[in-house]
Amino acid sequence: MIAPHARRVTVDRFGPPEMLHVESFALGEPGRRRVRVRVTHASVGSTDAMARSGDYLFQPRPGFVPGYDFVGVVETTNAAAARRGLSIGMRVIGCLARMGSYTTHLNACIDRLVPLPDELDSTVAAALPLDLVTADLALELAEPPHGGTLFVQGVSGPVGSLLTQLAVAKGLRVFGTASERTRASAESLGAHVVNYRDPNWPIMIRQLTAGGAHAGVDHTGTALVRAATRRTGTVVRTAWSGRPGHGRVDAARGGPATLARRFTSPSERLCSVPLLVALQPQRYRQILHDQLHRIAGGQLRAPTVTTAPFDEVIDAHRQLADLPPGHKLVLEMPPG
Ligand SMILES: NC(=O)c1ccc[n+]([C@@H]2O[C@H](COP(=O)([O-])OP(=O)(O)OC[C@H]3O[C@@H](n4cnc5c(N)ncnc54)[C@H](OP(=O)(O)O)[C@@H]3O)[C@@H](O)[C@H]2O)c1
Repeated sequence: MIAPHARRVTVDRFGPPEMLHVESFALGEPGRRRVRVRVTHASVGSTDAMARSGDYLFQPRPGFVPGYDFVGVVETTNAAAARRGLSIGMRVIGCLARMGSYTTHLNACIDRLVPLPDELDSTVAAALPLDLVTADLALELAEPPHGGTLFVQGVSGPVGSLLTQLAVAKGLRVFGTASERTRASAESLGAHVVNYRDPNWPIMIRQLTAGGAHAGVDHTGTALVRAATRRTGTVVRTAWSGRPGHGRVDAARGGPATLARRFTSPSERLCSVPLLVALQPQRYRQILHDQLHRIAGGQLRAPTVTTAPFDEVIDAHRQLADLPPGHKLVLEMPPG
Protein backbone atom coordinates (compact mmCIF):
# COMPACT_ATOMS: atom_id res chain seq x y z
CA MET A 1 0.00 0.00 0.00
CA ILE A 2 1.90 3.09 -1.23
CA ALA A 3 0.48 6.50 -0.34
CA PRO A 4 -0.18 8.40 -3.57
CA HIS A 5 1.94 11.50 -4.15
CA ALA A 6 3.58 11.38 -0.73
CA ARG A 7 5.91 14.34 -0.32
CA ARG A 8 7.93 15.69 2.58
CA VAL A 9 10.30 18.49 3.49
CA THR A 10 13.84 17.57 4.47
CA VAL A 11 16.76 19.53 5.84
CA ASP A 12 19.66 18.61 3.56
CA ARG A 13 22.29 20.53 5.48
CA PHE A 14 22.05 22.61 8.66
CA GLY A 15 21.71 26.28 7.83
CA PRO A 16 19.31 28.98 6.62
CA PRO A 17 15.76 28.38 5.27
CA GLU A 18 17.19 27.60 1.80
CA MET A 19 18.38 24.24 3.22
CA LEU A 20 14.74 23.04 3.22
CA HIS A 21 13.91 20.82 0.29
CA VAL A 22 10.62 19.21 -0.87
CA GLU A 23 10.98 15.62 -2.09
CA SER A 24 8.73 12.70 -3.06
CA PHE A 25 8.96 9.48 -1.08
CA ALA A 26 7.29 6.10 -0.85
CA LEU A 27 5.48 5.58 2.42
CA GLY A 28 5.52 1.96 3.61
CA GLU A 29 2.84 -0.05 5.37
CA PRO A 30 1.72 1.51 8.66
CA GLY A 31 2.31 -1.58 10.82
CA ARG A 32 0.35 -2.89 13.79
CA ARG A 33 0.26 0.16 16.08
CA ARG A 34 0.26 2.83 13.37
CA VAL A 35 -2.26 4.29 10.96
CA ARG A 36 -1.70 6.27 7.81
CA VAL A 37 -2.65 9.92 8.25
CA ARG A 38 -3.07 12.33 5.34
CA VAL A 39 -1.57 15.42 6.90
CA THR A 40 -3.51 18.60 6.13
CA HIS A 41 -1.61 21.07 8.34
CA ALA A 42 1.70 21.24 10.22
CA SER A 43 2.87 24.12 12.39
CA VAL A 44 6.12 25.99 11.84
CA GLY A 45 7.70 26.89 15.17
CA SER A 46 10.90 28.24 16.68
CA THR A 47 12.05 24.69 17.55
CA ASP A 48 11.87 23.77 13.84
CA ALA A 49 14.10 26.73 13.00
CA MET A 50 16.57 25.70 15.73
CA ALA A 51 16.68 22.16 14.31
CA ARG A 52 17.08 23.42 10.75
CA SER A 53 20.09 25.50 11.77
CA GLY A 54 21.67 22.56 13.67
CA ASP A 55 21.08 24.10 17.10
CA TYR A 56 18.71 21.46 18.49
CA LEU A 57 19.90 18.58 20.64
CA PHE A 58 17.16 16.14 19.60
CA GLN A 59 17.89 16.41 15.85
CA PRO A 60 21.56 15.61 15.46
CA ARG A 61 21.88 14.70 11.77
CA PRO A 62 20.84 16.42 8.50
CA GLY A 63 18.41 14.57 6.26
CA PHE A 64 15.55 14.78 8.76
CA VAL A 65 11.98 16.00 8.28
CA PRO A 66 11.22 18.96 10.60
CA GLY A 67 8.03 19.61 12.57
CA TYR A 68 6.37 18.17 15.65
CA ASP A 69 2.73 19.23 15.24
CA PHE A 70 0.18 18.03 12.73
CA VAL A 71 -3.51 17.81 11.95
CA GLY A 72 -4.72 15.26 9.41
CA VAL A 73 -7.27 12.69 8.37
CA VAL A 74 -7.02 8.97 9.21
CA GLU A 75 -6.71 6.90 6.02
CA THR A 76 -6.20 3.35 7.33
CA THR A 77 -7.29 1.42 10.37
CA ASN A 78 -6.51 -1.74 12.32
CA ALA A 79 -7.63 -3.45 15.51
CA ALA A 80 -5.47 -1.32 17.81
CA ALA A 81 -6.71 1.91 16.20
CA ALA A 82 -10.33 0.77 16.38
CA ARG A 83 -9.92 0.04 20.11
CA ARG A 84 -8.76 3.65 20.53
CA GLY A 85 -11.88 4.89 18.69
CA LEU A 86 -9.90 5.96 15.61
CA SER A 87 -11.70 5.41 12.31
CA ILE A 88 -11.12 6.18 8.64
CA GLY A 89 -12.00 9.77 7.74
CA MET A 90 -11.60 11.05 11.33
CA ARG A 91 -9.76 14.34 11.87
CA VAL A 92 -6.88 13.82 14.27
CA ILE A 93 -4.23 15.99 15.85
CA GLY A 94 -0.92 15.13 17.41
CA CYS A 95 2.59 15.92 18.44
CA LEU A 96 5.38 13.54 17.41
CA ALA A 97 8.06 12.28 19.79
CA ARG A 98 10.62 12.86 17.06
CA MET A 99 10.30 15.49 14.35
CA GLY A 100 8.70 14.57 11.02
CA SER A 101 5.40 16.41 10.49
CA TYR A 102 6.35 18.47 7.40
CA THR A 103 4.92 15.77 5.18
CA THR A 104 1.77 15.05 3.21
CA HIS A 105 1.43 11.55 4.66
CA LEU A 106 2.58 9.97 7.88
CA ASN A 107 2.38 6.51 9.43
CA ALA A 108 1.52 7.81 12.88
CA CYS A 109 1.73 5.72 16.05
CA ILE A 110 -1.77 5.61 17.52
CA ASP A 111 -0.26 6.71 20.86
CA ARG A 112 0.32 10.16 19.33
CA LEU A 113 -3.23 10.72 18.03
CA VAL A 114 -6.07 12.64 19.63
CA PRO A 115 -9.41 13.16 17.86
CA LEU A 116 -9.79 16.83 16.96
CA PRO A 117 -12.83 18.48 18.59
CA ASP A 118 -15.45 19.30 15.90
CA GLU A 119 -15.57 22.97 16.91
CA LEU A 120 -11.87 23.49 16.19
CA ASP A 121 -10.61 24.67 12.83
CA SER A 122 -7.78 22.43 11.55
CA THR A 123 -5.59 25.41 10.70
CA VAL A 124 -5.75 26.93 14.18
CA ALA A 125 -5.51 23.56 15.93
CA ALA A 126 -2.33 22.60 14.06
CA ALA A 127 -0.50 25.52 15.66
CA LEU A 128 -1.15 24.22 19.17
CA PRO A 129 -0.02 20.73 20.27
CA LEU A 130 3.64 21.26 21.20
CA ASP A 131 3.15 24.74 22.69
CA LEU A 132 -0.04 23.83 24.53
CA VAL A 133 1.39 20.69 26.12
CA THR A 134 4.62 22.54 26.98
CA ALA A 135 2.67 25.32 28.73
CA ASP A 136 0.56 22.85 30.70
CA LEU A 137 3.49 20.63 31.67
CA ALA A 138 5.76 23.56 32.62
CA LEU A 139 3.09 24.98 34.92
CA GLU A 140 2.53 21.59 36.53
CA LEU A 141 6.28 21.10 37.11
CA ALA A 142 6.73 24.65 38.46
CA GLU A 143 4.20 24.01 41.24
CA PRO A 144 3.67 27.63 42.30
CA PRO A 145 1.46 27.88 45.40
CA HIS A 146 -2.19 28.82 44.96
CA GLY A 147 -2.47 32.60 44.54
CA GLY A 148 1.32 32.88 44.15
CA THR A 149 3.58 34.39 41.52
CA LEU A 150 5.10 32.83 38.40
CA PHE A 151 8.04 34.18 36.42
CA VAL A 152 8.04 33.35 32.69
CA GLN A 153 11.07 34.06 30.53
CA GLY A 154 9.84 34.95 27.01
CA VAL A 155 6.31 35.59 28.22
CA SER A 156 5.14 36.98 24.86
CA GLY A 157 6.09 33.94 22.74
CA PRO A 158 3.68 31.19 21.72
CA VAL A 159 4.50 29.05 24.78
CA GLY A 160 4.63 32.05 27.13
CA SER A 161 1.24 33.33 25.92
CA LEU A 162 -0.47 30.01 26.63
CA LEU A 163 1.37 29.60 29.93
CA THR A 164 0.28 33.06 31.04
CA GLN A 165 -3.36 32.26 30.32
CA LEU A 166 -3.21 28.90 32.13
CA ALA A 167 -1.53 30.50 35.15
CA VAL A 168 -3.88 33.50 35.32
CA ALA A 169 -6.86 31.12 35.10
CA LYS A 170 -5.44 29.34 38.17
CA GLY A 171 -5.32 32.60 40.12
CA LEU A 172 -1.57 33.13 39.78
CA ARG A 173 0.09 36.47 39.08
CA VAL A 174 2.43 36.24 36.08
CA PHE A 175 5.63 38.27 35.65
CA GLY A 176 7.83 37.84 32.63
CA THR A 177 10.32 39.12 30.12
CA ALA A 178 9.77 40.33 26.57
CA SER A 179 11.09 43.06 24.29
CA GLU A 180 9.24 46.34 23.74
CA ARG A 181 8.04 44.92 20.37
CA THR A 182 5.91 42.25 22.03
CA ARG A 183 5.25 43.69 25.50
CA ALA A 184 1.66 44.79 24.78
CA SER A 185 0.67 41.32 23.59
CA ALA A 186 1.80 39.71 26.87
CA GLU A 187 0.20 42.46 28.94
CA SER A 188 -3.12 41.93 27.15
CA LEU A 189 -3.12 38.38 28.55
CA GLY A 190 -2.48 39.58 32.09
CA ALA A 191 1.33 39.38 32.42
CA HIS A 192 3.48 42.07 34.08
CA VAL A 193 6.40 42.58 31.70
CA VAL A 194 10.02 43.71 32.02
CA ASN A 195 12.41 44.06 29.10
CA TYR A 196 15.01 41.26 28.93
CA ARG A 197 17.41 43.73 27.29
CA ASP A 198 17.57 45.69 30.56
CA PRO A 199 20.45 44.09 32.53
CA ASN A 200 18.52 44.82 35.75
CA TRP A 201 15.55 42.66 34.82
CA PRO A 202 16.13 40.05 37.58
CA ILE A 203 16.24 42.85 40.19
CA MET A 204 13.08 44.37 38.74
CA ILE A 205 11.29 41.01 38.96
CA ARG A 206 12.45 40.57 42.58
CA GLN A 207 11.08 44.00 43.43
CA LEU A 208 7.78 43.46 41.62
CA THR A 209 7.29 40.10 43.33
CA ALA A 210 8.47 41.23 46.78
CA GLY A 211 11.55 38.99 46.94
CA GLY A 212 11.29 36.79 43.86
CA ALA A 213 8.61 34.77 42.09
CA HIS A 214 7.35 31.58 43.74
CA ALA A 215 8.42 29.63 40.63
CA GLY A 216 10.05 30.32 37.27
CA VAL A 217 9.97 28.96 33.72
CA ASP A 218 12.96 29.59 31.47
CA HIS A 219 13.91 28.75 27.86
CA THR A 220 17.27 30.52 27.66
CA GLY A 221 19.38 28.52 30.12
CA THR A 222 20.47 31.60 32.03
CA ALA A 223 21.40 31.44 35.72
CA LEU A 224 19.71 34.85 36.14
CA VAL A 225 16.29 33.23 36.24
CA ARG A 226 17.26 31.89 39.67
CA ALA A 227 17.85 35.47 40.82
CA ALA A 228 14.28 36.31 39.77
CA THR A 229 12.88 33.30 41.65
CA ARG A 230 12.73 32.61 45.39
CA ARG A 231 15.20 30.09 46.77
CA THR A 232 12.31 27.84 47.72
CA GLY A 233 10.82 28.08 44.23
CA THR A 234 11.29 25.61 41.38
CA VAL A 235 12.86 26.74 38.10
CA VAL A 236 11.57 24.81 35.09
CA ARG A 237 13.82 24.69 32.01
CA THR A 238 12.15 24.17 28.63
CA ALA A 239 15.19 24.95 26.42
CA TRP A 240 18.68 26.43 26.30
CA SER A 241 18.23 28.85 23.42
CA GLY A 242 19.75 31.94 25.03
CA ARG A 243 22.96 31.72 23.02
CA PRO A 244 22.06 31.17 19.36
CA GLY A 245 24.56 28.81 17.74
CA HIS A 246 25.31 27.13 21.08
CA GLY A 247 21.85 25.64 21.70
CA ARG A 248 22.90 22.05 21.24
CA VAL A 249 25.96 22.16 23.50
CA ASP A 250 24.15 24.30 26.11
CA ALA A 251 21.25 21.81 26.18
CA ALA A 252 23.65 18.85 26.38
CA ARG A 253 25.24 20.42 29.47
CA GLY A 254 22.19 22.11 30.95
CA GLY A 255 19.77 19.18 30.60
CA PRO A 256 21.68 16.73 32.82
CA ALA A 257 22.51 19.53 35.30
CA THR A 258 18.81 20.36 35.57
CA LEU A 259 17.89 16.71 36.05
CA ALA A 260 20.49 16.45 38.84
CA ARG A 261 18.92 19.44 40.63
CA ARG A 262 15.44 17.93 40.76
CA PHE A 263 15.65 17.04 44.45
CA THR A 264 18.14 19.72 45.56
CA SER A 265 17.27 23.05 47.10
CA PRO A 266 16.87 25.27 45.16
CA SER A 267 15.35 22.82 42.71
CA GLU A 268 15.10 22.70 38.92
CA ARG A 269 12.88 20.62 36.65
CA LEU A 270 13.27 19.67 33.00
CA CYS A 271 10.22 20.13 30.78
CA SER A 272 10.50 18.14 27.55
CA VAL A 273 7.35 17.41 25.57
CA PRO A 274 9.09 15.06 23.09
CA LEU A 275 10.16 12.94 26.09
CA LEU A 276 6.66 13.12 27.58
CA VAL A 277 5.14 12.00 24.26
CA ALA A 278 7.60 9.09 24.01
CA LEU A 279 7.56 7.95 27.64
CA GLN A 280 4.12 8.91 28.96
CA PRO A 281 1.84 8.88 25.90
CA GLN A 282 -1.38 8.56 27.85
CA ARG A 283 -0.56 11.61 29.98
CA TYR A 284 0.41 13.55 26.83
CA ARG A 285 -2.91 12.67 25.14
CA GLN A 286 -4.88 13.62 28.23
CA ILE A 287 -3.20 17.04 28.44
CA LEU A 288 -3.68 17.69 24.73
CA HIS A 289 -7.31 16.53 24.81
CA ASP A 290 -8.18 18.65 27.87
CA GLN A 291 -6.46 21.81 26.69
CA LEU A 292 -7.85 21.57 23.15
CA HIS A 293 -11.34 21.42 24.66
CA ARG A 294 -10.54 24.57 26.66
CA ILE A 295 -9.52 26.29 23.42
CA ALA A 296 -12.70 25.03 21.74
CA GLY A 297 -14.75 26.27 24.71
CA GLY A 298 -13.22 29.75 24.52
CA GLN A 299 -11.46 29.53 27.92
CA LEU A 300 -8.06 29.84 26.25
CA ARG A 301 -7.13 32.15 23.39
CA ALA A 302 -5.41 30.44 20.45
CA PRO A 303 -2.82 32.30 18.39
CA THR A 304 -3.79 33.98 15.14
CA VAL A 305 -2.67 31.67 12.37
CA THR A 306 -1.19 32.59 9.00
CA THR A 307 -1.02 29.71 6.54
CA ALA A 308 1.73 29.06 4.03
CA PRO A 309 1.48 26.58 1.15
CA PHE A 310 3.52 23.40 1.71
CA ASP A 311 5.65 24.14 -1.37
CA GLU A 312 6.56 27.56 0.03
CA VAL A 313 8.15 26.19 3.19
CA ILE A 314 11.37 28.15 2.59
CA ASP A 315 9.40 31.40 2.60
CA ALA A 316 7.52 30.29 5.72
CA HIS A 317 10.81 29.80 7.58
CA ARG A 318 12.03 33.19 6.37
CA GLN A 319 8.89 34.80 7.81
CA LEU A 320 9.33 33.22 11.26
CA ALA A 321 11.63 35.89 12.69
CA ASP A 322 9.26 38.75 11.82
CA LEU A 323 6.01 37.15 12.94
CA PRO A 324 3.89 39.58 15.00
CA PRO A 325 3.32 38.55 18.63
CA GLY A 326 0.34 36.26 19.09
CA HIS A 327 0.75 34.82 15.60
CA LYS A 328 1.82 31.37 14.39
CA LEU A 329 2.61 29.97 10.97
CA VAL A 330 1.04 26.77 9.71
CA LEU A 331 1.93 24.84 6.55
CA GLU A 332 -1.08 23.85 4.48
CA MET A 333 -0.64 20.65 2.50
CA PRO A 334 -2.07 20.38 -1.01
CA PRO A 335 -5.52 18.66 -1.07
CA GLY A 336 -5.04 14.86 -1.07
N1 LIG B 1 10.71 21.71 26.17
C1 LIG B 1 9.85 21.56 25.21
O1 LIG B 1 9.25 20.50 25.02
C2 LIG B 1 9.58 22.75 24.31
C3 LIG B 1 8.44 22.75 23.50
C4 LIG B 1 8.18 23.89 22.74
C5 LIG B 1 9.07 24.96 22.76
N2 LIG B 1 10.18 24.87 23.54
C6 LIG B 1 11.11 25.99 23.62
O2 LIG B 1 10.46 27.02 24.34
C7 LIG B 1 10.99 28.26 23.92
C8 LIG B 1 9.85 29.22 23.64
O3 LIG B 1 9.24 28.84 22.46
P1 LIG B 1 8.20 29.78 21.73
O4 LIG B 1 7.81 29.05 20.49
O5 LIG B 1 7.20 30.26 22.67
O6 LIG B 1 8.94 31.10 21.32
P2 LIG B 1 10.29 31.64 20.85
O7 LIG B 1 10.03 32.34 19.62
O8 LIG B 1 11.41 30.69 20.85
O9 LIG B 1 10.57 32.63 22.08
C9 LIG B 1 9.91 33.80 22.09
C10 LIG B 1 9.95 34.49 23.43
O10 LIG B 1 11.26 34.63 23.97
C11 LIG B 1 11.57 36.03 24.07
N3 LIG B 1 13.00 36.21 23.92
C12 LIG B 1 13.73 36.34 22.78
N4 LIG B 1 15.03 36.50 23.09
C13 LIG B 1 15.12 36.47 24.44
C14 LIG B 1 16.18 36.60 25.36
N5 LIG B 1 17.45 36.78 24.95
N6 LIG B 1 15.92 36.53 26.68
C15 LIG B 1 14.66 36.33 27.12
N7 LIG B 1 13.58 36.21 26.30
C16 LIG B 1 13.83 36.28 24.98
C17 LIG B 1 10.71 36.66 23.00
O11 LIG B 1 10.50 38.03 23.19
P3 LIG B 1 10.52 39.04 21.90
O12 LIG B 1 9.75 38.36 20.79
O13 LIG B 1 9.86 40.25 22.40
O14 LIG B 1 11.97 39.20 21.53
C18 LIG B 1 9.43 35.88 23.19
O15 LIG B 1 8.74 36.29 24.35
C19 LIG B 1 11.88 27.98 22.71
O16 LIG B 1 13.22 28.01 23.12
C20 LIG B 1 11.48 26.59 22.28
O17 LIG B 1 12.53 25.89 21.66
C21 LIG B 1 10.45 23.81 24.32
